[in-house]
Order: sequence, then structure tokens, then C-alpha cells
Amino acid sequence: MPDPLTLPPGLEVGVATAAYQVEGAVTEDGRVPSIWDTFAHTPGRTLGGDTGDVACDHYHRMPEDVALMAGLGVDAYRFSIAWPRALGGPRGLDFYDRLVDALLARGIAPLPTLYHWDLPQAFEDEGGWLSRATAERFAEYAGSVADRLGDRVRRWITLNEPVVHMAEGYAFGTGAPGRELLLGALPAAHHQLLGHGLAVRALRERGATQVMITNNCTPVWPASEDEADVTAAAVYDAFHNRLFTDPVLLSTYPPELAGALAGLIHDGDLEIIATPVDALGVNYYNPTRVGAPPPDAALPFDLRPIEGMPVTAFGWPVVPSGLRELLTGLRERYAAALPPIYVTENGCSTADGVDDQARIEFHAGHLRALGEAAAAGVDVRGYFVWSLLDNFEWAAGFSQRFGLVRVDFGTRERTPKASYHWLRELLATR
Ligand code: FCB
Repeated sequence: MPDPLTLPPGLEVGVATAAYQVEGAVTEDGRVPSIWDTFAHTPGRTLGGDTGDVACDHYHRMPEDVALMAGLGVDAYRFSIAWPRALGGPRGLDFYDRLVDALLARGIAPLPTLYHWDLPQAFEDEGGWLSRATAERFAEYAGSVADRLGDRVRRWITLNEPVVHMAEGYAFGTGAPGRELLLGALPAAHHQLLGHGLAVRALRERGATQVMITNNCTPVWPASEDEADVTAAAVYDAFHNRLFTDPVLLSTYPPELAGALAGLIHDGDLEIIATPVDALGVNYYNPTRVGAPPPDAALPFDLRPIEGMPVTAFGWPVVPSGLRELLTGLRERYAAALPPIYVTENGCSTADGVDDQARIEFHAGHLRALGEAAAAGVDVRGYFVWSLLDNFEWAAGFSQRFGLVRVDFGTRERTPKASYHWLRELLATR
């Protein structure tokens, strides 16, 4: 029997969601269309044609969902603000105003993410993140949200997982906006990072005290010790991890990619991107195994399955020790340049139902790994469960259930799962 699970002292524990995945109400209070509305309504793009039109109906059931969080006993709630609502005129941000008040009334700290992949369609029509103008627009939007909520909210996440947005949205077309540019997607990396840096400045000017970016990070395992596999793994690490962390923390792009990015970088861009952050958000799901690509492949790496591990309903390998490896690896790489870390997402999809023992084991294992990293000296301050609710899992629609709380997508009724009760007890023992 392992020792009973104890949380590192002072660890902030929360739950996370994202606007398009839970809110619904896509035509209310002036909200304009986003790239995810367009994508989900394009036949063949999402499993079963599922859309976020109603999703969890969180927009109308927010008080009930805040009560669920209060019952759970979490310290914080990470949610995202929909840029398409901010463009909706005077009532566009009212919902977030009410949400923040409801959270604060329950003693739950709001941690808003300004961009979780829902670009206004009108901006995509002008080039989206391939266009530099989108970075400037993002900073204006960030400022306008802080003008509205900054009297109560002083901590912000700028972007969620720019690597996944670049890859799925612009390289492979499996997410909105559905472009298939392969290496031609790289401008979406630089312009998101530029938007991040400009937004950090806009938020600071408005009194923000803690600003971070959330990256999807994965330990990269070479498929073998062969030099070709080791080289391919290093290249993959550059694309997935270092492309988004080196410029923010070290003001430089990884050497493997610097050439491909050169034409995009204007004087001063790297200084903007490296505007100091107060923390680094890290989303962890699993490690990635990488081998050398076959001859004439379009990409310089080849993803290989990880064998011999349990898998989630999505088929993702469950490797809790990967979180420790990731956190200690970040500290080794960035040393004094590494700010405090928040694990802003970690979770698994399970079969439908409330008896989700696999989720309990998943979170217990990852919290143990986080504790080991903390004991080894990594300054890790927070852990956010993905997700509070079963929700719209992007191209997988409603087929993948990540919630501590079950949602019936016919009635939208919420039912706490076994994992909700387990986490509530764990938090109550602190
Ligand atoms: C992450 C996303 C989040 C959710 C989880 C399962 O990549 O940030 O919205 O879909 O995966």
C-alpha cells in the first residue's frame, strides 16, 4: 500500500474549464461567431457533428456550477473568457462580471484565461494567427477585459496551449480553423507568442499582479538510442516544448527552428515576448515517444505509441511519473529563469458513469508525482483538474468525458462522480 496521499503545503487546488467547451449560448448577449462555431458546423469536422451550441449550458447554469465548486472545496477556478463575447457590445462581458462576483462570494479565486482557441471568425477571415495584426488585436482585447474585471481580478493567463492551437488548427486541420499547412503553420506560433507578450504589458498597465502563459508540455522519449531517433526526438521537443517556453523565459527561439522563423521576427519582437511573467502554466497529459521519420516524410519526426501503460478512454497513456520528469526537467533547463509553476490542467477521460475509479487513481498518481517534484525543489504552486464537468471535447465532441461531475447531454443534469467525492475529502483533510 502506498503512503496516504498528502498535498504539498500551500498548494492551490482548482478545477478548469474553457468557454466554448462549457458555455453554450453562442448567439446570446451579442456574442459574435468564432472559428469553433464555423468548424463544428462544418460537416465531418467533429465526431457525430457535435457542436458547442449548448454544451453544458454553463452560461445559464453558472450559479449551480459555482455551488458545485464550493461544495468540492477548491481554492480556485480556471475558466476562459470568450473573445467573441468581448466583441459583442455593452452586454458582452456581463456574464464574466457575474461569474467573478459569484466566485469571490464563495471564497474561490478566479483565474481567467484570455484565449482558449475561440478566435472571432472575422479575424480568421483576415488571416487569423498567421497574421501579425491578430497579435495586436489580442492585446487590445486583453486590455478591455482587464478594464472591466481588473478591479477584482489581478491574475491572468494569456493563452492556452499555443502549440496545440498551432498544430491542430493550422498544421493538421483537426481543430479550428482547420488549416493544413504543416510547417507553414509556424507563423501561428510567433504571432500567438507576440500577442502573449503584448497582452502581458497591457495587463500590467492595468494593475495585474500575476500573469502567466499556459503551455502544453510533454516529456519527449526517443523511440530508441539510435542517433536518428534521438535527433528526431530533439527536433520534436523543439517544436512542442521549447518553441513556446524558450522565447518567453530566455528571449530566444530554439536553434532548430530559428531559421524557419527568421523572416517573421521584427526588431524588438523577442523583447516583447520575453516580457517577464510571474508564473508558468503547464498542462500535462502524457509523454510523447518519437522516432526518426520515414524517408521523404513531410515532417522531421514520427510519433510512436507508448506501449505497456494503462490508457484513458481516449487511448492516452497514463504515466504519472511523466509529471515529475516534466517539472524537474523544466527546472534543470531554465534554472534561475524559471518562475513558479502552476499545473493548469491535468486529467483523463473515462467511460460514462459516476463510478470513475480510474479518475481517482489518475489524480492520486499525478498529485504524488507533483509532490515528489516539489520535494526535489521545484517551485510548483498549483494544480488544476481538467475538468469540473464533462464537456465538449473539441473534435471528439461529447464522446470523451473528463469531468469530476457527470453531465447528461440530454437534460444537462449534473451528478457528482466518485472522483468529486474523493477530491472533496482530500481537500477537507488539509
Ligand atoms: C487540452 C485542452 C483542453 C482539453 C484537454 C483535454 O489540450 O487545453 O481544452 O480539451 O486538452
